[in-house]
Amino acid sequence: MASIELKQIHKWFDTLHVINGVDLSIQKGEFVVFVGPSGCGKSTLLRIIAGLEDATSGSILIDSKDVTGNLPSERSLAMVFQSYALYPHMNVKENIGFALKTAGVEKKIIDKKVAETANILELSTLLNRLPKQLSGGQRQRVAIGRAIIREPKGFLFDEPLSNLDAALRVNMRLEISQLHKKLGITTIYVTHDQTEAMTLADRIVVLNKGKVVQEGTPRALYNKPNSLFVAEFIGSPKMNVIPCNAQNGKVILNLEKKSKTKIKSPKQEISKIGIRAEAISITDINNPDLFGKLVLCEYLGSEQFAYVDCGNGILITVRVEPAIEIKIGSEIGLNLNPSSVHFFSESGLRIEP
Ligand SMILES: Nc1ncnc2c1ncn2[C@@H]1O[C@H](COP(=O)(O)OP(=O)(O)OP(=O)(O)O)[C@@H](O)[C@H]1O
Ligand SMILES: [Mg+2]
Repeated sequence: MASIELKQIHKWFDTLHVINGVDLSIQKGEFVVFVGPSGCGKSTLLRIIAGLEDATSGSILIDSKDVTGNLPSERSLAMVFQSYALYPHMNVKENIGFALKTAGVEKKIIDKKVAETANILELSTLLNRLPKQLSGGQRQRVAIGRAIIREPKGFLFDEPLSNLDAALRVNMRLEISQLHKKLGITTIYVTHDQTEAMTLADRIVVLNKGKVVQEGTPRALYNKPNSLFVAEFIGSPKMNVIPCNAQNGKVILNLEKKSKTKIKSPKQEISKIGIRAEAISITDINNPDLFGKLVLCEYLGSEQFAYVDCGNGILITVRVEPAIEIKIGSEIGLNLNPSSVHFFSESGLRIEP
């Protein structure tokens, strides 16, 4: 396993500035997840680290050694893509052993390593099958096997599970997590999936428009997003955001009916509050923080989400105990847990209470 360091990476595609000054330091054995909107540069950054794409400027260090100009094969990193691209005419054993064969490794050693790799990935009984005779999850495991057998210092995954169905994704997510615990290989993992990001990452790096906008543990990003962008990007359901101002030290919500809350406002000028679905409770309409009408309910068995129309186009998501029967159409009050309110400035930056 290796440490990976990026220093002031920039990438231009003609006139398009895709990566805009990324600095990042990844520790040996760390599992780092890149998230960000489509087109923000996640894959490009990963490809630059792998050496499949040149950075326009900046440098990449692996184990403190500058590898910026090195070929992909000289970096000891293995990349696993969304499309697993197995060789269709080779069976599982041949696919996994291919890299060693082309490197001229002795057959006996290849056989031993293939057996070990297949054992780790529970592919031992499938070694003679062709890729077309495998399920999506099994194919993805073969692709990971091809990467592991090279004993890379780091893994680079680009949305490796997005072609799989929901159940397989969950299985593979757990397998990747266990594999990381077992092998301890430094990993960078790109995903669009909130659950994958939150559950796999030691550290999440949020990218937007080619820049790192925040990095931290899943907990830190969820509980202390540094901007409205991160607040709305991390977490599912999305954080509720309500325009507001302050009056006499209290937060006033700018909804259809102005709503005077019991929430203490910070000293700095605020323009929006953010509050997560689990920090809101439905109450009767005597003296709530705000009013609304229940318009929709999503019952999921272990939890349910109520959607409350508060006018001005603001639909608030509230997490409700699943045992409670929700009456659509009723007028209700909502209380916001004051210690869970996030404050943001006009420009979308976090303001501490
Ligand atoms: N070879 C290329 N030539 C020109 N533009 C490119 C090239 N590769 C990527 N881009 C552009 O660079 C930007 C970043 O692309 P990238 O694939 O890194 O995004 P991403 O964050 O991985 O997005 P997604 O989540 O959709 O996979 C996009 O605007 C894309 O169109
Ligand atoms: Mg991508």
